Amino acid sequence: MGFARACSVALVGVDGVVVEVQADLEPGVAAFTLVGLPDKTLVESRDRVRAAVVNSGAAWPQKKLTVGLSPASVPKGGAGFDLAVAAAVLGAAEVVDPGAIADLVLIGELGLDGRVRPVRGILPAVLAAAEAGYRQVVVPQQCAAEAALVPDVSVLGVRSLRQLIAVLTDGVVPEEEPPDPPGRPDPMLAGLFVPGAGLGTGLARGAGSGGEAPDHPDLSDVAGQHAARRALEVAAAGGHHLFLSGPPGAGKTMLAERLPWILPPLTRQDSLEVTAVHSVAGILPPGEPLVTKPPYCAPHHSATMQSLVGGGAGVPRPGAVSLAHRGVLFLDEAAEFSAKALDALRQPLESGHVVIARAAGVVRLPARFLMLLAANPCPCGRHNLQGAGCECPASVVRRYQARLSGPLLDRVDLRVEVEPVTRSDLLGRGGRGEDTATVADRVREARARAAARLADTPWRLNSEVPGHELRTRWPAAPGALAQAERDLERGLLTARGLDRVLRVAWTVADLRGRDRPDALDVAVALELRTGIARGATLPPGGGS
Ligand SMILES: Nc1ncnc2c1ncn2[C@@H]1O[C@H](COP(=O)(O)OP(=O)(O)O)[C@@H](O)[C@H]1O
Ligand SMILES: [Mg+2]
Ligand SMILES: [Zn+2]
Repeated sequence: MGFARACSVALVGVDGVVVEVQADLEPGVAAFTLVGLPDKTLVESRDRVRAAVVNSGAAWPQKKLTVGLSPASVPKGGAGFDLAVAAAVLGAAEVVDPGAIADLVLIGELGLDGRVRPVRGILPAVLAAAEAGYRQVVVPQQCAAEAALVPDVSVLGVRSLRQLIAVLTDGVVPEEEPPDPPGRPDPMLAGLFVPGAGLGTGLARGAGSGGEAPDHPDLSDVAGQHAARRALEVAAAGGHHLFLSGPPGAGKTMLAERLPWILPPLTRQDSLEVTAVHSVAGILPPGEPLVTKPPYCAPHHSATMQSLVGGGAGVPRPGAVSLAHRGVLFLDEAAEFSAKALDALRQPLESGHVVIARAAGVVRLPARFLMLLAANPCPCGRHNLQGAGCECPASVVRRYQARLSGPLLDRVDLRVEVEPVTRSDLLGRGGRGEDTATVADRVREARARAAARLADTPWRLNSEVPGHELRTRWPAAPGALAQAERDLERGLLTARGLDRVLRVAWTVADLRGRDRPDALDVAVALELRTGIARGATLPPGGGS
């Protein structure tokens, strides 16, 4: 009788899979059977599609209607199939030409009134459609800019099913009121971000988009803290995780908020990856969908496991570890996070992704981030401060510090004990520190040196190179490791620790523009690794 097909896209993690939607009309008692969606989604989608079609002024076919989504094996959550289902039904009923929709990919949720609502994950969905050879996509109007990031695909943004029908029947496209303003912050994101100075939701992005006025917190605002600033630069250059410990009010949070701005802008590939994750999370800002700055995500220590690692019904939402992908994950008051939360970080730290278990199988989300931990030395924060009266019992201090020990800190190459900021620092007696642009330049050059050395390897950053590879292929200058080897013999350093020192020494050498680490680079690395000052200070500015 009547048959039509259209396509849509299912999301598996942050990957899209093209799904075919077929509608078939047979004579018989009016009925609407929808197959190929999970039960709950299915019933809701069926009701929405029917109401939307009727409320768009099209007649609902009074016949036996069957719609199927295939392949059946692909898990299909969310409401993004509505538009394709409606199009296929209208095609089978010959309200629209079935030939006009057969090669269309349609993505969008329908309201009962026929409005087309935005869905999460447009970018990865359209990427998948393009990869599968489709050239025309229909998306909710609000998502059109995001869809247009994909080259070689023509994008039609629609506000309503009526508009789609008009386009497909060469009718006059009706005006529609713009959608409701994007008020209502996502409840899942509430409490996930620590609002930072000028960082809004805690996601840093879009430097320079608003003219030349500085729109980021600058490193030159941080008084004193030379060791921590140096460590921040080394962390950025080599991708080393960093742990800052010290009393409250010393500038740890200030430093953390400045880290994303000394990282280089994302490469095109990384930009698309990050944008895809943020798209699936539903947090892309409307007019400016492409994320080009490394993201910054600072979950509060009370954040739920789901908001940390991701999850939730339907299309799983990326958690903080994925929102920080290719950027910075800052765990402030790190010792206050639950043991379970800290433990959950191990998998992404090891593999660069998180695996979320679902009824329909597991979903992998990217989660490769630079981790920055900050913690007070004890619950009151005044431990080890001269004359500051910490009354925490020694056992409490030990237990507090032990929370951050073991496997997690083992992944952290850099540790710095931040001293309280002094009055003379604050008054600028020591001179103003370097600004973000200067440090960012050095970081960029150091990364370029490392990348050139690591060309033809799977690694880009020193922190990614496995220890044995580093030792055999990129040794330090002769004798440069003498001090570290003595530390190893005295039990002050483990063999694994020695690898880490060499790795950090390479980054220090890259920052100084050296061909390989010398004794000074190794001494700086040892300091940064153990947090124990040995007087191996470099002149400010990284020169030698
Ligand atoms: N090193 C510093 N230089 C300039 N201001 C500082 C410094 N340390 C702290 N401050 C001031 O104190 C406030 C709190 O600092 P913060 O970074 O939150 O400290 P922490 O995270 O170590 O507790 C900052 O907003 C800033 O006004
Ligand atoms: Mg703080
Ligand atoms: Zn204390």
